[in-house]
Amino acid sequence: MAQSHVDEYLEKAKEWILNAGKQIKQDMKEPYEVETKKDATDLVTEIDKKTEQYFIDQIFSVYPDHKVLGEEGMGDEVHSLDGVVWIIDPIDGTMNFVHQQRFFAISIGIYIDGIGEIGLIYDVMDDTLYEAVRGRGSYKNGERLPNIDPHKRLDDALVGINNFWAIPNRRLNEKKIHELVRKVKGTRSYGSAALEFAFIAEGIIDAYITMRLQPWDIAAGKILVEEVGGITTRVDGSELDMMTGNTVICSNRSIHQSLLTFIQQKDNG
Ligand code: IPD
Ligand code: CA
Ligand code: CA
Ligand code: CA
Repeated sequence: MAQSHVDEYLEKAKEWILNAGKQIKQDMKEPYEVETKKDATDLVTEIDKKTEQYFIDQIFSVYPDHKVLGEEGMGDEVHSLDGVVWIIDPIDGTMNFVHQQRFFAISIGIYIDGIGEIGLIYDVMDDTLYEAVRGRGSYKNGERLPNIDPHKRLDDALVGINNFWAIPNRRLNEKKIHELVRKVKGTRSYGSAALEFAFIAEGIIDAYITMRLQPWDIAAGKILVEEVGGITTRVDGSELDMMTGNTVICSNRSIHQSLLTFIQQKDNG
């Protein structure tokens, strides 16, 4: 892919993500509709949908041959990653958006023939833009982020985990999770997968492990973390699939290896 194309997509994506953030800030001052999806904890607002529609309108007006895979399903039914695919979460952390009016992000990953080329995560209320282009490093508000510490070990790590650790889990039993919580330096749960990736890239947490994320939760974050020397795979070590749900481990390579080994070992209880 010609660099000029990547530069152009990056410029457009940045312009649109900042505009969308501004509009969200405006819209959230007025009452808005909140609906539930799968269950009472799975929220979507009319602002999520409006934001996704905004991206779709912008992208298709300039790039009618691109594809859009968005959480709220207003884009294409994407059956392959051939060509240019924009993978978009219009609001990542809708629960935080509704209940806290902060700690949510817009996430855009641009994949070209299956390869992640551009990742943008915009923390709207903090007005912080994380951006990465494959091979060119990751940036926070225009400042290059240093590589994450390659020597940081699991027992010294702050690990982002979700509520799966508190309830019986099909893929990882509670004992195992309790063992993990005791093993690491501390755990954090931010309620926005995209921000957890951004925080790893920034070096303020060291790992993230979760048992169910969709492509729009991870598409941008994976690129951001790779560009500072980190790695993201499924919990069995296999490659993420941007067409379906994934388990996720994200960290530096040393912690990643420790987490893979730890998960494969039988629990000690
Ligand atoms: C959710 C958030 C949350 C994660 C969930 C996601 P949404 O995304 O990223 O942190 O634990 O699995 O679905 O629905 O707020 O875009
Ligand atoms: Ca959602
Ligand atoms: Ca999400
Ligand atoms: Ca969302």
